[in-house]
Amino acid sequence: MEILVDTVNLDQIRRYNETLPLNGVTSNPTIVKKEGKIDFFEHLREIRKVIGKNKALHVQVVGSTVDEIVADAHRITTEIDQDVYIKIPTDEKGLAAIKVLKSEGLHITATAIYTVFQGELALAANADYLAPYYNRMQNMNIAADQVIAELAQAIKASKSQTKILAASFHNVEQVTAAIKNGAHAVTIGTDVIQSGLNVPLISAAVADFKKDWESLYGSTTIAD
Ligand code: E4P
Repeated sequence: MEILVDTVNLDQIRRYNETLPLNGVTSNPTIVKKEGKIDFFEHLREIRKVIGKNKALHVQVVGSTVDEIVADAHRITTEIDQDVYIKIPTDEKGLAAIKVLKSEGLHITATAIYTVFQGELALAANADYLAPYYNRMQNMNIAADQVIAELAQAIKASKSQTKILAASFHNVEQVTAAIKNGAHAVTIGTDVIQSGLNVPLISAAVADFKKDWESLYGSTTIAD
């Protein structure tokens, strides 16, 4: 299981790189916009410095023709490094660009996946990751769990190295459902991480345990 954060906020990346078993960072233009008009490549190089070479950095193209997508990918890898996963929307032009870029040895994340059909085509194109959009599928009354389960099955049947990187989560229940249905990786927004960890029930249990310890031994830690 791989855990990624769906943000380009440097403070949040530093924080979760310290506290979570983090495998990487994902971004898209909407996520970038949340930081204001940053120096895009300088900012992404800083993220790379924070997470290091061993963690994955997924960066999305914005070009809309095959040539533009390929050019975006080349600029991203030139400005950051060759290890970046290039996120490409899974439509006809995106699939054509994936063919070109895979033949050059680049790492690819086929994104904006809403259907098993899109995922199967990206799998056949040998994308490294397939990114199904969990919440957006649910908004469209598409059975997100089933899409992920069928793609996981297709990957297994083809003995492919491709992984499912489930994305677009708006609550923790969606994250755990994606994992249960076969996602190999999940990218989670910092708001969802907080809503899963910053839970009054957890704080209340911790406070009760501390109170009982103190009433027995009079110290606030075992080490005291
Ligand atoms: C990954 O980075 C995806 O683009 C992202 O998770 C989409 O999330 P959204 O549906 O909340 O915009």
